Amino acid sequence: NQNVITDTFGRKHNYLRISLTERCNLRCTYCMPEDGVQLSPKSHIMTYEEIYTIAKAFVELGVDKIRLTGGEPLVRKDVGLIMEKLASLPITLTMTTNGVIVDRFIDQFKKCGITSLNVSLDSLDATKNKGITRRSYFEKVYQNILLLVKEGFHVKVNCVLMKGFNDDEIIDFIKLSKDNPIHVRFIEFMPFDGNRWNIDQMVSLQEILAEVHSNYSNEEIIKCADAPNDTTKTYQIKGYQGTFAIISSVTNPFCDGCNRIRLTANGHIKNCLFSTKESDLLNPLRKGESIIPVVQNAIKTKLKIRNGMDTLEKFNQTDKHTNNRSMITIGG
Ligand code: GTP
Ligand code: 5AD
Ligand code: SF4
Repeated sequence: NQNVITDTFGRKHNYLRISLTERCNLRCTYCMPEDGVQLSPKSHIMTYEEIYTIAKAFVELGVDKIRLTGGEPLVRKDVGLIMEKLASLPITLTMTTNGVIVDRFIDQFKKCGITSLNVSLDSLDATKNKGITRRSYFEKVYQNILLLVKEGFHVKVNCVLMKGFNDDEIIDFIKLSKDNPIHVRFIEFMPFDGNRWNIDQMVSLQEILAEVHSNYSNEEIIKCADAPNDTTKTYQIKGYQGTFAIISSVTNPFCDGCNRIRLTANGHIKNCLFSTKESDLLNPLRKGESIIPVVQNAIKTKLKIRNGMDTLEKFNQTDKHTNNRSMITIGG
């Protein structure tokens, strides 16, 4: 598409992540403060018609992939309608979910042409899982992941690693990919408002690879090709059906290939996961104004983290993330 929105670094933005809700049925420690977040008033949340109108404008601007996020997207009451409406656009539609209630949506996903889902799961131990999510849904999520695989969906499992907590499970997670085409992704713990980020808790790309190499021989660890805009470095253990990958947002950010735009549930564009400036689309839309110039301007001012905060030390300064949102209201 010739219109595709390009920023000052020449990055083309064809991938829109829409957060459908700030609510969630889990309370993950790395995602939200213990007391929860201040929710936007309902009247400030995009309606399903507004989501469609905005998505359509983005498609006209070259977006061809939309990922629905949250909070937990499936807790939104009209999520079915939203999926159906968006499925009528010429895009690839996907979702990132915590998996707790995906079993209720299998037919709906199929009807809307959703073939791939990313599911969060941080521990394969029920007690530890409860420690992270502050809820007891491990068994349900695990069974739902297997159900999605059985139903033929491409399933990626997102695992945020925390030192001394679940970093002893790296190999167990990789083994999930042995007999099932499951694609496990280890994510470096990132700083957001209220998640008490500390660099010492983060498990780095290097540490993850070291753990893999101490369990498998060089010959067994196959490096797979990554698409240009992928956030991941992907590997496969020889003979395994699935893969594992590492999302190194902190130690090795992929800003150069970033093709993402985020739309929050209250209708703001966040041009980067770590941007603190937002551009409101909802008010102009409600006033009947064109949102296209707002979108174009939001992309024009997009930075790279390497640019905005050039070193890891700067990333480590608390003030660089406490004026960002909590992850629960960004959507990953
Ligand atoms: P696909 O590549 O389509 O599978 O999606 P994804 O990996 O971008 O989506 P997902 O929602 O599963 O996100 C996985 C992790 O990658 C989350 O922790 C995100 O916060 C992180 N991530 C996604 N996009 C970006 C980005 O633009 N910048 C950074 N730094 N991290 C990102
Ligand atoms: N650091 C890294 N990943 C995170 N996610 C949520 N919060 C964080 C964080 N602080 C992940 C979730 C989900 C994805 C959308 O983002 O695990 O899979
Ligand atoms: Fe909910 Fe996902 Fe945040 Fe966990 S990480 S609280 S599942 S939105």
